[in-house]
Amino acid sequence: MTRHFLDIDDLSCAELDEVLVLAAQPAATAPPLLAGRGAALVFEKPSLRTRSSTEIAVVALGGHPVYIQGPEVGIDTRETAEDVARTLACYHALICARVLDHQVLVRMAAALDEHDGGIDAPPNGGVPLVNLLSDRAHPCQVIADLLTLRQVFGDLGGRTLAYVGDANNVWRSLALGAAMVGMRVRTAAPDGYGPDADDLARVARLGGEIEVTEDAAEAVAGADAIYTDVWTSMGQEEEAELRRKAFSGFAVDDALLAGAAPGAVVLHCLPAHRGEEISAAVIDGPRSRVWQQAANRMHAMRGLLGWLLAEAGAAKVAP
Ligand code: CP
Ligand code: NVA
Repeated sequence: MTRHFLDIDDLSCAELDEVLVLAAQPAATAPPLLAGRGAALVFEKPSLRTRSSTEIAVVALGGHPVYIQGPEVGIDTRETAEDVARTLACYHALICARVLDHQVLVRMAAALDEHDGGIDAPPNGGVPLVNLLSDRAHPCQVIADLLTLRQVFGDLGGRTLAYVGDANNVWRSLALGAAMVGMRVRTAAPDGYGPDADDLARVARLGGEIEVTEDAAEAVAGADAIYTDVWTSMGQEEEAELRRKAFSGFAVDDALLAGAAPGAVVLHCLPAHRGEEISAAVIDGPRSRVWQQAANRMHAMRGLLGWLLAEAGAAKVAP
């Protein structure tokens, strides 16, 4: 069965380690697994980092990225998500998508699996699907985050990650990914914006240690890494004012960081809003690793795509 990547725990802990090892290797050594082949990149939401890093990762693997905006495709308006997936599999060795609704990815993956090797299979059957962010998850981001933390700390086992902010898509993948590499996770969010019981159970199933609090200082106390994300995610713009009020007191600033471990670093998936979830002094200050983290998006994608293509049997001839 073709391996898809809809969230970080679609990989085993050992597989995540393999991806991280690949991601740490120089781009020049990447095998040309996509030579003469295409990668479809569908975006239903805006992107700066994910689009560019994925395009360049595809090029590093010898392939040709084709950027497709949501309205051009009209997932479930112009045609079904399943037919979009089946069609793209006729031309591409890889399908990557940023979607409004995570369920769309689940349906696309199922459609690709149905056709995997079937009589009416698209010529490129066995095409991996990669989540470039959904309302539920952002696993490609988290590979870059873990790569960055490994570069800073080496082995991450026993280190503490404090996430301050909305327990949304980035948080969900991050909490899972951190648990998979043996980090302790602490989450601070205001009432109503924290993890739900399913989220916590999922982390626990991976053997992860997770603490949830409504006190940001408690989460950050002694932590090795402090992570935040925007208070208002793409698609939630109408809630911006409400969220600004709800999250006041959850800004990552110098006062909050005073309680962190002496060598603590700060990460942010970006885009950042200075003066809201993070102060300018912190994001532009000495603890910040956000540009290393942003650069790692490209290395992480090269590692992930290389791993998925190798799994999919990259030796297939170009269509
Ligand atoms: N961090 C991240 O995914 O950025 P973009 O939305 O710009 O791709
Ligand atoms: N939570 C943010 C992440 C952006 C990369 C959003 O979904 O907009």
